Order: sequence, then structure tokens, then C-alpha cells
Amino acid sequence: MEAPAAPHSPADPVSAEITVTSPEQMRELGRRLAKLLRAGDLVMLSGELGAGKTTLTRGLGESLGVRGAVTSPTFVIARVHPSLGDGPPLVHVDAYRLSGGLDEMEDLDLDVSLPESVIVVEWGEGKVEELTDERLQVVIHRAVGDTHDEVRHVTVTGIGPRWAAVDLAVLTA
Ligand SMILES: Nc1ncnc2c1ncn2[C@@H]1O[C@H](COP(=O)(O)OP(=O)(O)OP(=O)(O)O)[C@@H](O)[C@H]1O
Ligand SMILES: [Mg+2]
Repeated sequence: MEAPAAPHSPADPVSAEITVTSPEQMRELGRRLAKLLRAGDLVMLSGELGAGKTTLTRGLGESLGVRGAVTSPTFVIARVHPSLGDGPPLVHVDAYRLSGGLDEMEDLDLDVSLPESVIVVEWGEGKVEELTDERLQVVIHRAVGDTHDEVRHVTVTGIGPRWAAVDLAVLTA
């Protein structure tokens, strides 16, 4: 007989696994994710080139109601999308071009208060973990290698006390 599962402790990371089968569904996942976010939150997006990180961020921006189209921040390290209402701005970061960590962002003159923003970081592995003990980690995997297949497996994990009581199951509904 198997041992009973350990009781859930608040220190356990909460996570959800979602399968999406099209770019439109990835946007929809971003829209749902946005509903869980508030000022000061950091979302770290992982996944290889073309996994769908920016596509998800696009849905996020739509739901947050921010100004400007979310695109790949290829020529800038970070782009600020101010809220069209009274919500937090979205700061979309391509950490690939940050040589150090997120603290470098303080030097970018973004003209926005990071603790009052929702920050989404692509390519942040190894650069943001040390600076934040609270973050939502989103990992996107292609189901089948580097093909035109549109299936993606997405794992969303809440790290830190901020996320301990958040029900990520709303993402899969
Ligand atoms: N299920 C899916 N989810 C998201 N994008 C998909 C999906 N299926 C196909 N695609 C396509 O894959 C591409 C994803 O591009 P996107 O810019 O979102 O990826 P990325 O992870 O941000 O890449 P990069 O590492 O270059 O920043 C788009 O062309 C999109 O149409
Ligand atoms: Mg991208």
C-alpha cells in the first residue's frame, strides 16, 4: 500500500498544468493569468524561442487593459505599457539583453515605479531568482520538439507567500 500523500503545507509551491493547442488559447491563458495579478507581482516566463512567451504576455496586457501592443521587445530591454484605467502598468522585460540581474532595471530610467507595476520577464532564468523570493513562474514546453505543432504544455508555479493561498486552478477551468 502506498503511503498517504503528505498534507499540503503553505511552504509547498502551488502549481497548475495547462495544455493549450493554439496561439489564441495561449492569449486566453494570459488573460486569465492577469486576473490573478496585482501591482508588485513578478511573472517569469520560460520556454525556448517561439514557445509563446510573448503571445501569453499579449493576453495579459489585454486583460490588464494597458496601452500599446505587446510585441517582442527586441530593440529595448523593457517596455512600459501604462494602464488605460486605474490598474497597474505592465512592464515587459526581455532579460536576454540584461547582462546582470533585474537590479539593472533601476538604471533604465523607465519612468515607472516597479513595486507599483506588474512585471513580466522573458529570458530571466539565472537573473531574477536571487532578487525575488516571490514570483509566478510560467514554463512553456512544446509538446513535439521544434515543429509547427501548436500544442504547448504550460506549468504555472507560485513561489513565495504571496502565492500560497492563490488558487491556480482557475487557470485550468
Ligand atoms: N499554442 C501556441 N501558443 C503560443 N504560440 C503558438 C502556439 N502555437 C503556435 N504558436 C506560434 O508560435 C509563435 C510564438 O511566438 P512568441 O513570440 O509568442 O514566442 P516567444 O516565446 O516569446 O519567443 P522568443 O523567445 O523569441 O521571445 C507565434 O508565431 C505563434 O503564432
Ligand atoms: Mg518573446
